[in-house]
Amino acid sequence: MRRQTVTLLGIFAALSVRANEGMWLPFLLENNIGEMTEMGLHLTADDIYNINQSCLSSAVVGFVDLDMPFHHFCSGSVISAHGLVITNHHCGLNVVQQHSSLQNDYITNGFWAMNQADELGGNNIGVCFLRRMEDVTAQVLDGVNDTMTSSLRSNLITKNITNIEQTASANSTLKAHVDAFYCGNEYYLSVYEIFEDIRLVGTPPISIGKFGGDTDNWVWPRHTGDFTIFRIYADSLNRPAPYSADNIPYQASNHLKINAKQKQEDDFVMLMGYPGTTNEYLPSFAVEATQNTFDPLVVGIRSKSIDIIKERMRSDQSVMIKYTSKVASLANAWKKLDGERRGLAKKHVVSKKRERERLMTTWIEESDERKKLYSNLLDDYEADYIEYVNQNQAWLLMSETLYKSEAITVCRKIRTLINDKMEDSLRRTRIINYLNDFYTDYDPETDISVSKMLINEYMANALPEHVPATLKKGNGVTSFAHACRNSMFTNPAMAIAFFEKHSVINEKKLLKDPLYKLASETDDIYHDKISKQISQIQRKNNQHQRLFMQLQRECFASSQLFPDANSTFRIAYGQIKGYHPTDAISYAPFTTLGGIIEKCHMDVYDYTAPDHLIKLYADRNFGPYSNADSSLTVCFLSTCHTTGGNSGSPVFDTDGNLIGLNFDRVWEGTMSDLQFDADICRNISLDIRFVLFFIDKYAGASHLIDEMEIIY
Ligand code: ARG
Ligand code: ASP
Repeated sequence: MRRQTVTLLGIFAALSVRANEGMWLPFLLENNIGEMTEMGLHLTADDIYNINQSCLSSAVVGFVDLDMPFHHFCSGSVISAHGLVITNHHCGLNVVQQHSSLQNDYITNGFWAMNQADELGGNNIGVCFLRRMEDVTAQVLDGVNDTMTSSLRSNLITKNITNIEQTASANSTLKAHVDAFYCGNEYYLSVYEIFEDIRLVGTPPISIGKFGGDTDNWVWPRHTGDFTIFRIYADSLNRPAPYSADNIPYQASNHLKINAKQKQEDDFVMLMGYPGTTNEYLPSFAVEATQNTFDPLVVGIRSKSIDIIKERMRSDQSVMIKYTSKVASLANAWKKLDGERRGLAKKHVVSKKRERERLMTTWIEESDERKKLYSNLLDDYEADYIEYVNQNQAWLLMSETLYKSEAITVCRKIRTLINDKMEDSLRRTRIINYLNDFYTDYDPETDISVSKMLINEYMANALPEHVPATLKKGNGVTSFAHACRNSMFTNPAMAIAFFEKHSVINEKKLLKDPLYKLASETDDIYHDKISKQISQIQRKNNQHQRLFMQLQRECFASSQLFPDANSTFRIAYGQIKGYHPTDAISYAPFTTLGGIIEKCHMDVYDYTAPDHLIKLYADRNFGPYSNADSSLTVCFLSTCHTTGGNSGSPVFDTDGNLIGLNFDRVWEGTMSDLQFDADICRNISLDIRFVLFFIDKYAGASHLIDEMEIIY
């Protein structure tokens, strides 16, 4: 009796910090609606999600690349009856870049279509609407039993999923996808309508859309005007259709109303969208490996690359242009993982997880049935995990060093094209196009300095059997330098001329090129000695994790555990709130335009604002978007649980009106992908009033404002 009391108290203590944690499913929202109502929400679960397209979620979209229609790289929302969609600037930047040239530099100057004819189409992105979602676990697991091998199990599941997806999308323009939830314990079907003709309508200059650049990325206080507007086009029957001049603006079944009033700290907020991946239910030893091994490995190597590239960028303007976006993508994950490992350590996540595991062990001991299922689980999992740590370290080391050398990467890409089945002339065109693209942003001097450092790192840390033959000669770097000097791939004109001259490309000839040879040796090591081993151990891990997830759900049955993010539709909620990043420092939850101007007075490359904006500030010309104290809000913080993919997610007030766009998290709280901590995990949103001000007063695109339904 006493032991049980202790156990329950312990479980309660372990879980009581969970306020605002979670990314919830729209069709299971009945479980949350009580808490949401208590926190201030005025809507019912049915107002938020139902299958009749009249609900709030029917105005929320996922952004996809057309060749990966179920991987949502960002989120967004419909804000007019004629298909206007708003998302983040960083989500639309590729499209803006495609339409930009030296003459029409939309990246630098921004772009505003003053009528529909000027909206820019032909983009390779789509937006998807969730039309329904349901639990199909029973059908997916039909025929599966505990005694079958893991490969039989997975084949049967794949077959069942294919059947379900085909049935759900038969005779319609809808697309169906089944995803695994709770680490493979449950399966839910999502049915989407995907529109393929998405046109660029408006975007601010990058100095505003990415104000603060890498300096402010993942950081509060933040002043980034991170928004871009698109319009969905459909065929004459309002159905999805590929890009065509005949298409017309989509007549949306539902669009969001916009609340342009001032918000306050503690206001309830809710957001929806497509969070990509989280791992909230890993065991202590997996978090420990992430914090002490995997994250430091990536962070350590990337810091060195970033330093070298930035140094080159500072000394040469052409390198600045070529490497801005490359260094941004290296730096985005680098900074996030550095924040993650520090947050995990500071919040003692490993010991908290150990404490939870101790509670689970006690719980298991309480019944024979539990013992039968779980008594060896954690020990077996941990034993296998040691092997996984070794394999994954080898993989991370290769992917962060040899695979980050552009000289090696270009050869690997050519090798893939050579080994893909296709007609010779098509192959040649693809290779030449690829090389032209690649060399536009390539600076051999920068790449070779970075690569030398990367190769040193690899040689110092890799197992001898993972070292390519070419690098075994000399000390690695000397052989690499020799290969670079004697390869055509470090010389754009020579490489392109080679493929122009040879209509049939025979790999034997290419293998004489020393860089190509190094790339193919590297690839072979990856395939023969790393990738197979890692997928084998991953399969075991997945089995353990599935059972471990089931254990956590049974042991902590009184608290509702949300499933990890997996690029399906989710709802998160919380409040507008500041935080204390460190001792004696406290952050307020709102930033203002005055802060942009202050930052511009600092001597930091990432802080510049267009003159027109500075003038609007000087005149305090904020129109109806001004705060009571005549300031203009730019960004705000809230306690919603978000991750990559949630960028562009609409943020709602208590009545379901749009008040902001999610675009980032704070650095101290990026650990939320592994463990949400209510003290320091905050998501950062752009205030919708800044968006309206910018469109209206800066861009003068009042025809767009007229299309929207705004509550002043
Ligand atoms: N950190 C944000 C996210 O992961 C925003 C990235 C874009 N902004 C930037 N300065 N790189 O994707
Ligand atoms: N910036 C991220 C995105 O692009 C959001 C996040 O990781 O918080 O989706």
